[in-house]
Amino acid sequence: MNKLLPQAPGPIGVFDSGYGGLTILKSIRELLPQYDYVYLGDNARAPYGSRSFDIVYQFTRQAIMKLFEMGCQLVILGCNTASAKALRSIQQNDLPNIDPLRRVLGVIRPTAEVAGKLTETKHVGILATPGTIKSESYNMEINKLWPELSVTGVACPLWVPIVENNEAEGAGADYFVKKRINHILWLDPDIDTLILGCTHYPILMPKIEQYVPDGIQIVSQGEYVADSLKDYLSRHTDMDARCTKDGTVRYYTTENAEKFKEAARIFGAEDMNVEHIDLE
Ligand code: DGL
Repeated sequence: MNKLLPQAPGPIGVFDSGYGGLTILKSIRELLPQYDYVYLGDNARAPYGSRSFDIVYQFTRQAIMKLFEMGCQLVILGCNTASAKALRSIQQNDLPNIDPLRRVLGVIRPTAEVAGKLTETKHVGILATPGTIKSESYNMEINKLWPELSVTGVACPLWVPIVENNEAEGAGADYFVKKRINHILWLDPDIDTLILGCTHYPILMPKIEQYVPDGIQIVSQGEYVADSLKDYLSRHTDMDARCTKDGTVRYYTTENAEKFKEAARIFGAEDMNVEHIDLE
């Protein structure tokens, strides 16, 4: 166990490859405003969506160690790609050595839990980054909980760059949003529940709603991740006691702080204090 890590109660860490986790943090703070939070975006090395398993694991592990050093006892991987590619190894292989009392939770499990509750046709679609789709993490998590469900995934490689380039409302977005929605519904016309398995996709919601036929529900994961965290903290009172509650939030980025602040507006983030941080 790493004896140098602070043991005192600390803020809840929220990690993402870049800006996308801000959508998750926003939902979490709406439901649980009393806690302190530290947000860390690895913007200098984002996007993670097209990176290999090993690299996403290595980068995510570095970020978690940094959040632990800042005093976080609990870290949420607010990034689907990191949750898909790194979470299992970190939970099973790293945490027992680093500190068995600390916890790292992801966004895929809470989303998988609701999938089976929402679908009536038992056909679910996942739209996510190439990395998340290739990992098949959603299929595995959903089928562990709901073996009777049929799960179809489609990668949307251009949706993240569209959002990050502030083109979510532009005409160019229509083409790519429509193309991927038509494709997934062509692969499985019985889908009645479409999961947005990437932090950026809620920003495209107006376009997505335009091209998804009536009767299909679109699942934006933020509120479910927040519900699941609330439930987790109420069941794990020991961990709850290790999370400080002064309602503060601090933001860190591996990129330039001013750049982060500017782009964070796309994700609905309010005026914020951002600091640069190095992970390597
Ligand atoms: N945050 C990532 C996710 O949810 C999207 C951005 C990236 O590819 O790094 O998958």
